[in-house]
Amino acid sequence: MKAAVFHKIGDISVDNVDDPRIEGAEDIIVRVTSTAICGSDLHIYNGFFPQLKDMIMGHEFMGVVEEVGPAVTKIQKGDRVVVPFVIACGACFFCSHNQHAHCETTNPEMYGPEGHLTKGKGGGLFGFTDMYGGYSGGQAEYVRVPMANTGPRVIPEELTDDQVLFLTDIFPTGWSAVRWAKVKPGSSVAIFGSGPVGLMAQKAAWLNGAERVIAIDPLDYRLEKAKSINNAEILNAKDEHLMDKIREMTDGRGVDCAIDAVGMEADRTFMDKVKAVVNLEKGSCEVIEMCIEAVRRGGNVSVVGVYGSNYDNFPIHQIFEKGLNMRFGQAYVQKYIDELFRIVQDGKVTLNDIITHRLPLSDASRAYDMFKKKEDDCVKVVLTP
Ligand SMILES: NC(=O)c1ccc[n+]([C@@H]2O[C@H](COP(=O)([O-])OP(=O)(O)OC[C@H]3O[C@@H](n4cnc5c(N)ncnc54)[C@H](O)[C@@H]3O)[C@@H](O)[C@H]2O)c1
Ligand SMILES: [Zn+2]
Ligand SMILES: [Zn+2]
Repeated sequence: MKAAVFHKIGDISVDNVDDPRIEGAEDIIVRVTSTAICGSDLHIYNGFFPQLKDMIMGHEFMGVVEEVGPAVTKIQKGDRVVVPFVIACGACFFCSHNQHAHCETTNPEMYGPEGHLTKGKGGGLFGFTDMYGGYSGGQAEYVRVPMANTGPRVIPEELTDDQVLFLTDIFPTGWSAVRWAKVKPGSSVAIFGSGPVGLMAQKAAWLNGAERVIAIDPLDYRLEKAKSINNAEILNAKDEHLMDKIREMTDGRGVDCAIDAVGMEADRTFMDKVKAVVNLEKGSCEVIEMCIEAVRRGGNVSVVGVYGSNYDNFPIHQIFEKGLNMRFGQAYVQKYIDELFRIVQDGKVTLNDIITHRLPLSDASRAYDMFKKKEDDCVKVVLTP
Protein backbone atom coordinates (compact mmCIF):
# COMPACT_ATOMS: atom_id res chain seq x y z
CA MET A 1 0.00 0.00 0.00
CA LYS A 2 0.96 3.67 -0.16
CA ALA A 3 1.67 5.63 3.02
CA ALA A 4 3.23 8.94 4.13
CA VAL A 5 6.47 7.81 5.77
CA PHE A 6 8.66 9.95 8.06
CA HIS A 7 12.36 9.32 7.33
CA LYS A 8 14.18 12.19 8.99
CA ILE A 9 13.61 15.82 9.95
CA GLY A 10 11.88 17.59 7.06
CA ASP A 11 11.62 14.39 5.02
CA ILE A 12 8.23 12.72 4.65
CA SER A 13 7.57 10.87 1.40
CA VAL A 14 4.80 8.68 0.06
CA ASP A 15 6.25 5.19 -0.23
CA ASN A 16 5.12 1.66 -0.99
CA VAL A 17 5.07 -0.27 2.29
CA ASP A 18 3.68 -3.61 3.49
CA ASP A 19 -0.07 -3.76 4.07
CA PRO A 20 -0.97 -3.91 7.77
CA ARG A 21 -2.24 -7.21 9.18
CA ILE A 22 -4.31 -8.22 12.19
CA GLU A 23 -1.80 -8.76 15.05
CA GLY A 24 -3.98 -8.77 18.17
CA ALA A 25 -7.41 -10.25 18.84
CA GLU A 26 -8.98 -6.80 19.24
CA ASP A 27 -7.42 -5.34 16.06
CA ILE A 28 -9.27 -4.16 13.00
CA ILE A 29 -7.92 -3.10 9.60
CA VAL A 30 -9.40 0.14 8.26
CA ARG A 31 -9.30 1.25 4.61
CA VAL A 32 -8.69 4.96 5.07
CA THR A 33 -11.07 7.29 3.21
CA SER A 34 -9.94 10.63 4.75
CA THR A 35 -6.97 11.67 6.87
CA ALA A 36 -5.73 15.08 8.04
CA ILE A 37 -2.39 16.65 8.92
CA CYS A 38 -2.17 18.03 12.47
CA GLY A 39 0.04 20.61 14.19
CA SER A 40 1.24 17.67 16.29
CA ASP A 41 2.61 15.99 13.15
CA LEU A 42 4.77 19.07 12.65
CA HIS A 43 6.57 18.46 15.97
CA ILE A 44 7.84 15.19 14.46
CA TYR A 45 8.46 16.67 10.98
CA ASN A 46 10.44 19.55 12.57
CA GLY A 47 12.42 17.28 14.89
CA PHE A 48 10.99 18.54 18.20
CA PHE A 49 9.86 14.97 18.91
CA PRO A 50 12.69 12.64 17.93
CA GLN A 51 11.99 9.54 15.82
CA LEU A 52 14.96 7.44 14.75
CA LYS A 53 13.27 4.79 12.57
CA ASP A 54 11.00 5.27 9.56
CA MET A 55 7.38 5.62 10.68
CA ILE A 56 4.01 5.98 8.96
CA MET A 57 2.57 9.34 10.01
CA GLY A 58 -0.96 10.34 10.91
CA HIS A 59 -3.38 10.16 13.83
CA GLU A 60 -6.45 11.86 12.36
CA PHE A 61 -8.17 9.35 10.08
CA MET A 62 -11.38 7.51 9.31
CA GLY A 63 -12.49 4.85 6.89
CA VAL A 64 -14.20 1.54 6.25
CA VAL A 65 -13.49 -1.62 8.23
CA GLU A 66 -11.98 -4.32 6.02
CA GLU A 67 -11.08 -7.00 8.57
CA VAL A 68 -11.82 -7.65 12.25
CA GLY A 69 -9.89 -9.66 14.84
CA PRO A 70 -11.58 -12.56 16.71
CA ALA A 71 -12.23 -10.59 19.95
CA VAL A 72 -13.79 -7.52 18.31
CA THR A 73 -17.41 -7.26 19.44
CA LYS A 74 -18.43 -3.67 18.75
CA ILE A 75 -17.36 -3.23 15.12
CA GLN A 76 -18.15 -5.24 11.99
CA LYS A 77 -16.59 -5.59 8.58
CA GLY A 78 -18.03 -2.88 6.32
CA ASP A 79 -18.70 -0.39 9.17
CA ARG A 80 -17.60 3.20 8.57
CA VAL A 81 -15.60 4.41 11.59
CA VAL A 82 -13.80 7.44 13.02
CA VAL A 83 -10.82 6.52 15.19
CA PRO A 84 -9.58 8.46 18.26
CA PHE A 85 -5.86 9.32 18.09
CA VAL A 86 -5.39 7.89 21.59
CA ILE A 87 -5.02 4.09 21.69
CA ALA A 88 -6.57 2.77 24.91
CA CYS A 89 -7.52 -0.63 26.31
CA GLY A 90 -10.73 0.40 28.08
CA ALA A 91 -9.98 -1.79 31.09
CA CYS A 92 -6.95 -0.50 33.04
CA PHE A 93 -6.97 1.92 36.02
CA PHE A 94 -6.79 5.05 33.86
CA CYS A 95 -9.25 3.85 31.22
CA SER A 96 -11.75 3.04 33.94
CA HIS A 97 -11.28 6.61 35.26
CA ASN A 98 -12.03 8.02 31.78
CA GLN A 99 -8.39 9.17 31.40
CA HIS A 100 -7.62 7.12 28.30
CA ALA A 101 -4.54 9.12 27.27
CA HIS A 102 -2.80 7.57 30.29
CA CYS A 103 -3.74 3.96 29.38
CA GLU A 104 -1.35 1.61 31.14
CA THR A 105 -1.30 -1.16 28.55
CA THR A 106 -0.92 0.30 25.04
CA ASN A 107 2.68 1.59 25.27
CA PRO A 108 4.41 -1.35 26.96
CA GLU A 109 8.01 -0.40 26.08
CA MET A 110 8.01 3.23 27.13
CA TYR A 111 5.07 3.68 29.52
CA GLY A 112 5.63 4.74 33.10
CA PRO A 113 4.45 6.84 35.99
CA GLU A 114 7.35 9.33 35.76
CA GLY A 115 6.42 11.42 32.72
CA HIS A 116 10.07 12.31 32.13
CA LEU A 117 11.40 13.65 28.84
CA THR A 118 12.59 10.32 27.48
CA LYS A 119 11.03 7.71 29.75
CA GLY A 120 7.84 7.02 31.58
CA LYS A 121 5.58 8.27 28.80
CA GLY A 122 1.79 8.00 28.42
CA GLY A 123 -0.39 5.53 26.50
CA GLY A 124 -0.07 4.66 22.79
CA LEU A 125 -0.84 7.17 20.04
CA PHE A 126 -1.12 6.54 16.29
CA GLY A 127 1.89 7.69 14.24
CA PHE A 128 3.49 9.52 17.16
CA THR A 129 7.02 8.12 17.54
CA ASP A 130 8.47 5.14 19.35
CA MET A 131 8.02 7.02 22.64
CA TYR A 132 4.25 6.57 22.28
CA GLY A 133 4.16 2.93 21.22
CA GLY A 134 5.63 3.14 17.71
CA TYR A 135 2.23 2.56 16.09
CA SER A 136 1.89 3.08 12.34
CA GLY A 137 -0.37 6.02 11.58
CA GLY A 138 -3.32 6.57 9.29
CA GLN A 139 -1.87 8.77 6.54
CA ALA A 140 -1.97 5.60 4.47
CA GLU A 141 -4.32 3.50 2.36
CA TYR A 142 -4.81 1.06 5.25
CA VAL A 143 -4.14 1.14 8.97
CA ARG A 144 -4.19 -1.38 11.81
CA VAL A 145 -6.34 -0.15 14.68
CA PRO A 146 -5.68 -1.98 17.96
CA MET A 147 -8.19 -2.04 20.86
CA ALA A 148 -11.10 -1.65 18.47
CA ASN A 149 -13.67 -2.25 21.23
CA THR A 150 -12.57 0.98 22.94
CA GLY A 151 -11.60 3.47 20.21
CA PRO A 152 -13.47 3.49 16.88
CA ARG A 153 -17.02 4.83 16.61
CA VAL A 154 -19.41 3.74 13.84
CA ILE A 155 -20.69 6.64 11.72
CA PRO A 156 -24.03 6.55 9.90
CA GLU A 157 -24.02 6.97 6.12
CA GLU A 158 -25.85 10.30 6.11
CA LEU A 159 -22.85 12.14 7.63
CA THR A 160 -19.97 12.92 5.26
CA ASP A 161 -16.31 12.28 6.08
CA ASP A 162 -15.69 16.03 6.36
CA GLN A 163 -18.46 16.44 8.93
CA VAL A 164 -16.99 13.90 11.37
CA LEU A 165 -13.25 13.55 10.61
CA PHE A 166 -12.25 16.04 13.32
CA LEU A 167 -13.88 13.92 16.03
CA THR A 168 -10.64 11.89 15.89
CA ASP A 169 -8.61 14.62 17.57
CA ILE A 170 -9.01 18.36 17.21
CA PHE A 171 -12.66 18.85 18.18
CA PRO A 172 -12.27 16.74 21.35
CA THR A 173 -8.97 18.58 21.95
CA GLY A 174 -10.62 22.00 21.66
CA TRP A 175 -13.42 20.69 23.88
CA SER A 176 -10.96 19.33 26.48
CA ALA A 177 -9.19 22.71 26.46
CA VAL A 178 -12.45 24.53 27.15
CA ARG A 179 -13.63 22.13 29.85
CA TRP A 180 -10.21 22.18 31.53
CA ALA A 181 -10.29 25.99 31.45
CA LYS A 182 -13.69 25.77 33.24
CA VAL A 183 -15.48 27.82 30.59
CA LYS A 184 -19.10 28.30 31.62
CA PRO A 185 -22.04 30.54 30.69
CA GLY A 186 -20.84 34.15 30.83
CA SER A 187 -17.11 33.39 30.72
CA SER A 188 -14.63 35.51 28.81
CA VAL A 189 -12.12 33.30 27.01
CA ALA A 190 -8.82 34.13 25.32
CA ILE A 191 -7.60 31.45 22.94
CA PHE A 192 -3.96 31.70 21.87
CA GLY A 193 -3.42 30.11 18.45
CA SER A 194 -5.96 30.18 15.65
CA GLY A 195 -4.76 27.07 13.90
CA PRO A 196 -7.04 24.03 13.66
CA VAL A 197 -6.98 23.38 17.42
CA GLY A 198 -7.58 27.02 18.35
CA LEU A 199 -10.47 27.22 15.89
CA MET A 200 -12.03 24.10 17.44
CA ALA A 201 -11.55 25.57 20.94
CA GLN A 202 -13.39 28.72 19.79
CA LYS A 203 -16.34 26.58 18.64
CA ALA A 204 -16.26 24.64 21.91
CA ALA A 205 -16.14 27.87 23.96
CA TRP A 206 -19.36 29.16 22.36
CA LEU A 207 -21.03 25.76 22.82
CA ASN A 208 -20.15 25.90 26.52
CA GLY A 209 -21.81 29.30 26.93
CA ALA A 210 -18.87 31.72 26.70
CA GLU A 211 -19.85 35.37 26.48
CA ARG A 212 -16.67 36.58 24.78
CA VAL A 213 -14.30 34.56 22.66
CA ILE A 214 -11.04 36.34 21.83
CA ALA A 215 -8.74 34.75 19.24
CA ILE A 216 -5.02 35.62 19.25
CA ASP A 217 -2.53 34.68 16.52
CA PRO A 218 0.34 36.41 14.70
CA LEU A 219 -1.11 35.44 11.29
CA ASP A 220 -3.83 37.76 9.99
CA TYR A 221 -5.31 35.21 7.60
CA ARG A 222 -5.89 32.81 10.51
CA LEU A 223 -7.48 35.58 12.56
CA GLU A 224 -9.78 36.38 9.64
CA LYS A 225 -10.79 32.71 9.65
CA ALA A 226 -11.56 32.91 13.39
CA LYS A 227 -13.74 35.95 12.76
CA SER A 228 -15.54 34.69 9.67
CA ILE A 229 -16.36 31.13 10.74
CA ASN A 230 -16.47 31.46 14.54
CA ASN A 231 -17.44 35.08 15.10
CA ALA A 232 -14.48 35.53 17.47
CA GLU A 233 -13.03 38.91 18.43
CA ILE A 234 -9.49 39.01 17.11
CA LEU A 235 -6.16 40.38 18.32
CA ASN A 236 -2.75 40.05 16.71
CA ALA A 237 -0.21 38.26 18.93
CA LYS A 238 2.50 40.69 17.79
CA ASP A 239 0.53 43.76 18.92
CA GLU A 240 2.73 45.42 21.55
CA HIS A 241 -0.40 46.50 23.46
CA LEU A 242 -1.94 43.01 23.37
CA MET A 243 -2.25 42.54 27.13
CA ASP A 244 -3.58 46.08 27.65
CA LYS A 245 -6.22 45.42 25.02
CA ILE A 246 -7.25 42.13 26.64
CA ARG A 247 -7.59 43.90 30.02
CA GLU A 248 -9.52 46.79 28.46
CA MET A 249 -11.97 44.25 27.09
CA THR A 250 -12.46 42.69 30.53
CA ASP A 251 -12.96 45.57 32.99
CA GLY A 252 -9.23 45.77 33.62
CA ARG A 253 -9.05 42.29 35.14
CA GLY A 254 -8.07 39.90 32.36
CA VAL A 255 -10.06 36.98 30.97
CA ASP A 256 -11.72 34.32 33.11
CA CYS A 257 -10.18 31.55 31.01
CA ALA A 258 -7.06 31.42 28.84
CA ILE A 259 -6.17 28.57 26.50
CA ASP A 260 -2.82 27.70 24.92
CA ALA A 261 -3.57 26.11 21.52
CA VAL A 262 -0.06 26.82 20.17
CA GLY A 263 2.54 24.75 22.03
CA MET A 264 6.32 24.87 22.05
CA GLU A 265 6.69 25.88 18.41
CA ALA A 266 5.38 29.41 18.95
CA ASP A 267 6.87 32.18 16.80
CA ARG A 268 10.17 33.18 18.41
CA THR A 269 12.53 36.12 18.36
CA PHE A 270 16.24 35.67 17.71
CA MET A 271 16.94 36.17 21.44
CA ASP A 272 14.42 33.43 22.34
CA LYS A 273 16.31 31.08 20.07
CA VAL A 274 19.65 31.95 21.66
CA LYS A 275 18.18 31.42 25.14
CA ALA A 276 16.78 28.04 24.10
CA VAL A 277 20.20 26.89 22.86
CA VAL A 278 21.94 28.07 26.04
CA ASN A 279 19.35 26.40 28.31
CA LEU A 280 19.00 23.20 26.25
CA GLU A 281 15.32 23.99 25.70
CA LYS A 282 13.16 23.00 22.76
CA GLY A 283 11.11 25.84 21.37
CA SER A 284 9.63 28.13 23.99
CA CYS A 285 6.93 28.35 26.65
CA GLU A 286 6.12 31.91 25.65
CA VAL A 287 2.45 31.15 25.02
CA ILE A 288 1.92 29.63 28.48
CA GLU A 289 3.43 32.83 29.87
CA MET A 290 1.05 34.88 27.70
CA CYS A 291 -1.89 32.88 29.08
CA ILE A 292 -0.72 33.53 32.65
CA GLU A 293 -0.43 37.23 31.82
CA ALA A 294 -3.82 37.46 30.09
CA VAL A 295 -5.93 35.59 32.64
CA ARG A 296 -7.51 37.33 35.62
CA ARG A 297 -6.55 36.64 39.22
CA GLY A 298 -8.09 33.36 40.35
CA GLY A 299 -8.68 32.42 36.70
CA ASN A 300 -8.13 29.24 34.75
CA VAL A 301 -5.47 28.36 32.20
CA SER A 302 -5.49 25.24 30.09
CA VAL A 303 -2.71 24.09 27.84
CA VAL A 304 -3.36 21.69 24.96
CA GLY A 305 -0.49 22.99 22.82
CA VAL A 306 2.20 20.32 23.09
CA TYR A 307 5.44 20.73 25.10
CA GLY A 308 8.41 18.37 25.02
CA SER A 309 10.94 20.28 27.10
CA ASN A 310 11.57 21.95 30.47
CA TYR A 311 12.05 25.71 30.72
CA ASP A 312 14.10 27.89 33.02
CA ASN A 313 12.64 31.04 34.54
CA PHE A 314 9.09 29.72 34.28
CA PRO A 315 6.88 32.29 36.10
CA ILE A 316 5.86 30.20 39.11
CA HIS A 317 5.69 33.34 41.23
CA GLN A 318 3.07 34.90 38.96
CA ILE A 319 0.95 31.73 39.02
CA PHE A 320 1.08 31.77 42.82
CA GLU A 321 0.50 35.51 43.11
CA LYS A 322 -2.52 35.39 40.81
CA GLY A 323 -3.83 32.17 42.37
CA LEU A 324 -4.37 30.36 39.07
CA ASN A 325 -5.76 26.95 38.22
CA MET A 326 -3.81 25.29 35.45
CA ARG A 327 -4.41 22.10 33.50
CA PHE A 328 -2.27 20.52 30.78
CA GLY A 329 -2.21 17.43 28.62
CA GLN A 330 -3.32 15.18 25.79
CA ALA A 331 -7.03 15.38 25.12
CA TYR A 332 -9.41 12.74 26.43
CA VAL A 333 -10.96 11.75 23.11
CA GLN A 334 -12.76 8.60 24.31
CA LYS A 335 -14.34 10.54 27.18
CA TYR A 336 -15.94 13.20 24.99
CA ILE A 337 -16.35 11.67 21.52
CA ASP A 338 -19.92 10.37 21.89
CA GLU A 339 -21.23 13.64 23.33
CA LEU A 340 -19.45 15.55 20.56
CA PHE A 341 -20.74 13.20 17.86
CA ARG A 342 -24.31 14.02 18.95
CA ILE A 343 -23.56 17.75 18.81
CA VAL A 344 -22.35 17.30 15.22
CA GLN A 345 -25.28 15.05 14.29
CA ASP A 346 -27.79 17.54 15.72
CA GLY A 347 -26.27 20.26 13.53
CA LYS A 348 -25.23 22.38 16.52
CA VAL A 349 -21.71 22.83 15.15
CA THR A 350 -19.93 22.79 11.80
CA LEU A 351 -16.40 21.43 11.83
CA ASN A 352 -15.46 21.24 8.15
CA ASP A 353 -15.35 25.02 7.65
CA ILE A 354 -11.69 24.99 8.74
CA ILE A 355 -10.61 22.83 5.76
CA THR A 356 -8.66 24.92 3.26
CA HIS A 357 -6.87 22.24 1.23
CA ARG A 358 -7.78 18.82 -0.08
CA LEU A 359 -5.04 16.81 -1.73
CA PRO A 360 -4.45 13.20 -2.73
CA LEU A 361 -2.34 11.20 -0.25
CA SER A 362 0.32 11.00 -2.99
CA ASP A 363 0.88 14.77 -2.45
CA ALA A 364 1.54 14.37 1.31
CA SER A 365 5.10 15.63 1.03
CA ARG A 366 3.98 18.92 -0.57
CA ALA A 367 1.06 19.15 1.87
CA TYR A 368 3.39 18.95 4.90
CA ASP A 369 5.62 21.64 3.46
CA MET A 370 2.69 23.96 2.79
CA PHE A 371 1.07 23.41 6.21
CA LYS A 372 4.38 23.94 8.00
CA LYS A 373 5.17 27.16 6.12
CA LYS A 374 1.54 28.35 6.38
CA GLU A 375 1.56 28.99 2.62
CA ASP A 376 -1.47 29.68 0.45
CA ASP A 377 -3.49 30.64 3.57
CA CYS A 378 -3.36 27.02 4.63
CA VAL A 379 -5.29 26.11 7.80
CA LYS A 380 -6.19 22.43 7.54
CA VAL A 381 -5.26 19.84 4.94
CA VAL A 382 -7.30 16.72 4.28
CA LEU A 383 -5.60 13.95 2.33
CA THR A 384 -7.52 11.31 0.39
CA PRO A 385 -5.85 7.97 -0.25
N1 LIG B 1 -3.23 18.15 23.67
C1 LIG B 1 -3.68 17.46 22.64
O1 LIG B 1 -4.32 16.43 22.80
C2 LIG B 1 -3.44 17.99 21.26
C3 LIG B 1 -4.15 17.47 20.16
C4 LIG B 1 -3.93 18.04 18.90
C5 LIG B 1 -3.01 19.07 18.74
N2 LIG B 1 -2.33 19.52 19.83
C6 LIG B 1 -1.35 20.63 19.74
O2 LIG B 1 -2.04 21.85 19.58
C7 LIG B 1 -1.13 22.80 19.00
C8 LIG B 1 -1.82 23.51 17.85
O3 LIG B 1 -2.12 22.58 16.80
P1 LIG B 1 -2.62 23.11 15.39
O4 LIG B 1 -2.92 21.93 14.55
O5 LIG B 1 -3.67 24.14 15.55
O6 LIG B 1 -1.22 23.76 14.86
P2 LIG B 1 -0.81 25.01 13.98
O7 LIG B 1 0.66 25.00 13.95
O8 LIG B 1 -1.54 25.00 12.67
O9 LIG B 1 -1.36 26.26 14.80
C9 LIG B 1 -0.61 26.98 15.73
C10 LIG B 1 -1.00 28.44 15.61
O10 LIG B 1 -0.35 29.17 16.64
C11 LIG B 1 0.01 30.42 16.12
N3 LIG B 1 1.01 31.06 16.99
C12 LIG B 1 2.36 30.99 16.96
N4 LIG B 1 2.89 31.76 17.94
C13 LIG B 1 1.85 32.33 18.60
C14 LIG B 1 1.74 33.20 19.69
N5 LIG B 1 2.83 33.66 20.33
N6 LIG B 1 0.51 33.58 20.12
C15 LIG B 1 -0.60 33.13 19.51
N7 LIG B 1 -0.57 32.28 18.45
C16 LIG B 1 0.65 31.88 18.01
C17 LIG B 1 0.48 30.10 14.72
O11 LIG B 1 0.50 31.24 13.87
C18 LIG B 1 -0.58 29.07 14.28
O12 LIG B 1 -1.69 29.69 13.67
C19 LIG B 1 0.11 22.01 18.61
O13 LIG B 1 1.09 22.13 19.62
C20 LIG B 1 -0.40 20.59 18.58
O14 LIG B 1 0.62 19.64 18.78
C21 LIG B 1 -2.53 19.00 21.07
ZN1 LIG C 1 -3.80 15.81 15.82
ZN1 LIG D 1 -6.17 1.28 29.43
